[in-house]
Amino acid sequence: MYSLMAALALCCALILLLCGGVCSGENLILPSKLQNATKETAQFKPISLPTDTYNDYIWRFGTLTILNVVGTSDSASPAYRNRISLDKTTLALELRNLTLSDSGDYTLSINGDKSSYTATTRLEVFERISGARLIGPSDLIMEGNSTTLTCEGNGAVFSVEWMKDNKTLSPSSSIIFSSDNRSVTISPIRRADRGDYQCTLINPVSSGSASYRMTVIFGPDSTRVDGRSEVEEEGYVNLSCIADSEPVPLYKWEFNGTKTNVTSKTYIVNSTKFSDSGNYTCIARNNVTKLEATGSFILVVKEKGSEAGGPLSAGAIAGIVIGVLVGVAGAAGLIVYFLKFNGGQKSSKDSREATNRDNTGLYYENMNELQNNQPRLPPPRLPPREAHEQDAEYENIKH
Ligand SMILES: *[C@@H]1O[C@H](CO)[C@@H](O)[C@H](O)[C@H]1NC(C)=O
Ligand SMILES: *[C@@H]1O[C@H](CO)[C@@H](O)[C@H](O)[C@H]1NC(C)=O
Ligand SMILES: *[C@@H]1O[C@H](CO)[C@@H](O)[C@H](O)[C@H]1NC(C)=O
Ligand SMILES: *[C@@H]1O[C@H](CO)[C@@H](O)[C@H](O)[C@H]1NC(C)=O
Ligand SMILES: *[C@@H]1O[C@H](CO)[C@@H](O)[C@H](O)[C@H]1NC(C)=O
Ligand SMILES: *[C@@H]1O[C@H](CO)[C@@H](O)[C@H](O)[C@H]1NC(C)=O
Ligand SMILES: *[C@@H]1O[C@H](CO)[C@@H](O)[C@H](O)[C@H]1NC(C)=O
Ligand SMILES: *[C@@H]1O[C@H](CO)[C@@H](O)[C@H](O)[C@H]1NC(C)=O
Ligand SMILES: *[C@@H]1O[C@H](CO)[C@@H](O)[C@H](O)[C@H]1NC(C)=O
Ligand SMILES: *[C@@H]1O[C@H](CO)[C@@H](O)[C@H](O)[C@H]1NC(C)=O
Ligand SMILES: *[C@@H]1O[C@H](CO)[C@@H](O)[C@H](O)[C@H]1NC(C)=O
Repeated sequence: MYSLMAALALCCALILLLCGGVCSGENLILPSKLQNATKETAQFKPISLPTDTYNDYIWRFGTLTILNVVGTSDSASPAYRNRISLDKTTLALELRNLTLSDSGDYTLSINGDKSSYTATTRLEVFERISGARLIGPSDLIMEGNSTTLTCEGNGAVFSVEWMKDNKTLSPSSSIIFSSDNRSVTISPIRRADRGDYQCTLINPVSSGSASYRMTVIFGPDSTRVDGRSEVEEEGYVNLSCIADSEPVPLYKWEFNGTKTNVTSKTYIVNSTKFSDSGNYTCIARNNVTKLEATGSFILVVKEKGSEAGGPLSAGAIAGIVIGVLVGVAGAAGLIVYFLKFNGGQKSSKDSREATNRDNTGLYYENMNELQNNQPRLPPPRLPPREAHEQDAEYENIKH
């Protein structure tokens, strides 16, 4: 118990002692470390100076004296004379035109009236990174093959960072970083690996980036044709051949199995004729991979006016409107019927069946009524297929 208290007291005394030195600014303190580039200037500036009075002090590099101040006279070592300055108020030493050999420990020693004070700091000088370049293959990169990207540059490189399309490039089973991160090997190369690669060489005083755009030759694996499959006579048709390929493929178009002279990505017919109905085939060919893929498309040219109002004819719309009205009327009838029966507390299975039968009757009646009430509706002009659909619709309503 006694020893614990003694230890605590010792602790407090130590804290007070340490703080008394540092916190009151009585001690000499230098920054712990400076990092600068060659040809730059480093400034060794005390963070805190002793409150003591002093006239003599020395700046040293290792054991070598840079500058010795005694009272009003100071002597600088000839090796430093041209590239140092001293601020006699702050005692800051400036060292210009840094070279790699300036790296090391710098010590300031002060001979005060009450005591002497010493502090040391470390200077690290690095060559700036310059001339960063990202070297990749200059010839074509085929999907399935492998390649290596290498980041080169001058200066002391501490680390290398890689990005692809502005996102950090991470290692994977097919993306392998060299042990110093200077190169990245991609094996096998996939089409998703195409993009903009960037490497950044980094050291504590500078960084340098370079980039490389990687193009991957591939495809096409498949081809398809996009466009409207039905068009009216004298209508406009734009068929697009879609094929994923690098480089962009060469296109050929066939119509009903016969070659055409169209060699663009799109097949355009400004004013369609009935004879334009048929099978359009696009052949996309990659002249580097020598791969070829075809896609086909059936175009139907219909009579003019048959598509007014969109995919459904006026007659079909009228039919749907009638159907909906009939349905609403039927539902209303059903509700009325149910309310009536519930009021009379008759809800047997028989009565429900009767309801259904009655409702169907109502349905038919309204149907006929509506049809008879519309004698001025022009008879819809329908191509045979649509007319048939119309019949089917009426049939559905009846069943
Ligand atoms: C030298 O390094 C210090 C800290 O490491 C920094 O504050 C200072 O700006 C650098 N000097 C130059 C000229 O870059
Ligand atoms: C800096 O140092 C280099 C090599 O020591 C020297 O060639 C150059 O002239 C110096 N530059 C200045 C501005 O002092
Ligand atoms: C990969 O490259 C080598 C040499 O350049 C070549 O022989 C090989 O055919 C290529 N493989 C593929 C899949 O392109
Ligand atoms: C990456 O960022 C740069 C600048 O922020 C931009 O110009 C470039 O388009 C970006 N690249 C990609 C692939 O997003
Ligand atoms: C290489 O980069 C990875 C992060 O991408 C990092 O974890 C690793 O430490 C680096 N290696 C070297 C030698 O810099
Ligand atoms: C044809 O369609 C494609 C894809 O929809 C479009 O990019 C192109 O501009 C169109 N061409 C014409 C002449 O309308
Ligand atoms: C269209 O033509 C291509 C090639 O001539 C053929 O392979 C395809 O089966 C045809 N499509 C139809 C629906 O006839
Ligand atoms: C392509 O063929 C059409 C008839 O099939 C012809 O009218 C047109 O002039 C030809 N175009 C070219 C560029 O040969
Ligand atoms: C379609 O019309 C455009 C402009 O009106 C014209 O440039 C194009 O050559 C025409 N295409 C065909 C296949 O007639
Ligand atoms: C093309 O084939 C379609 C059937 O696939 C046929 O209806 C059309 O008449 C043919 N057109 C020509 C010009 O041969
Ligand atoms: C592939 O075709 C393009 C034109 O579309 C041409 O510029 C290129 O030289 C061709 N490449 C080869 C390898 O034939």
